[in-house]
Amino acid sequence: MSTTPAGTPRPHDPARPGTPEDPSDVVVVRDLHKSFGDVEVLKGIDLTIRRGEVVCVIGPSGSGKSTLLRCVNLLEEPTRGSVLIEGEDITDPDCDIDEVRSRLGMVFQQFNLFPHLTALQNCVLAQTNVLRRGKAEAEKVAQHNLERVGLGGRGDAHPAQLSGGQQQRVAIARALSMNPDLMLFDEPTSALDPELVGDVLSVMRLLAKEGMTMMVVTHEMAFARDVADRVIFMDGGVIVEEGEPSRVIGAPEHERTRAFLQRVLDPTHVDPGAEDRKYAERHRTNVDGIVPADISGPA
Ligand SMILES: Nc1ncnc2c1ncn2[C@@H]1O[C@H](COP(=O)(O)OP(=O)(O)OP(=O)(O)O)[C@@H](O)[C@H]1O
Ligand SMILES: [Mg+2]
Repeated sequence: MSTTPAGTPRPHDPARPGTPEDPSDVVVVRDLHKSFGDVEVLKGIDLTIRRGEVVCVIGPSGSGKSTLLRCVNLLEEPTRGSVLIEGEDITDPDCDIDEVRSRLGMVFQQFNLFPHLTALQNCVLAQTNVLRRGKAEAEKVAQHNLERVGLGGRGDAHPAQLSGGQQQRVAIARALSMNPDLMLFDEPTSALDPELVGDVLSVMRLLAKEGMTMMVVTHEMAFARDVADRVIFMDGGVIVEEGEPSRVIGAPEHERTRAFLQRVLDPTHVDPGAEDRKYAERHRTNVDGIVPADISGPA
């Protein structure tokens, strides 16, 4: 039990996940289960993300990382359990999910930019549609965020005129333009050519430094190690272990974590491409990149 007096922010304690929530907690997931048909994909997840915390979720292909992230903004409806965003239970049928989603930025592997709109217009659209900002103000916010991601001079470009890394940075600027309290990233760099990954990770590092609360599903172990306050290793629909990156990545306690890290980190491992092949197989029929119209504006 927490002995912190009511109203006093509790110190950040990554070693005690799932402890009683604090009003300042951005995400509280309790006993989350998710099944697709007969297949139980999430088998009881408990997770708390404090304001300003950067949490990286790692784990093998098919372990349920994307499903967990999608439950956090109700793109998937949990079968059991609850998800609280800033104290509000989004699994409650009375919850105004569109309002809650307007406080969450989501960045997918696929960038989901509108091809017929410029970079600036892509960043303006949801601001005017969802937040009801005036055009001039929305453009100012959009321009500011394009500058933040290093694309201040490319507002007039259409997505087809931009590299994959630039498009992903526009997608991040678009999410930031909604002034989110939480940014959710699902493998934002895994569709990019290796030479374009660095710029996107740099932007994410900057956001982390600025104090943005972030939940990042990633295969980028160096990023997780350097930037995360806490790393969560998932396997088979459960959190196997979590803690400071230096411990989870540097000195994992569980055999499953060790085996996964060996597969992804050790180039001399007997089958170094196994994780990549599993990933490619699963994503041949990828459902992760779909953004429902209600959070991305008109189709
Ligand atoms: N809409 C769906 N319908 C049926 N099964 C699904 C659906 N979405 C995910 N699954 C299944 O749930 C399991 C977990 O999928 P999920 O996408 O969450 O894994 P992941 O950890 O993100 O994997 P990856 O690293 O490949 O992205 C997989 O077995 C997947 O096939
Ligand atoms: Mg995934």
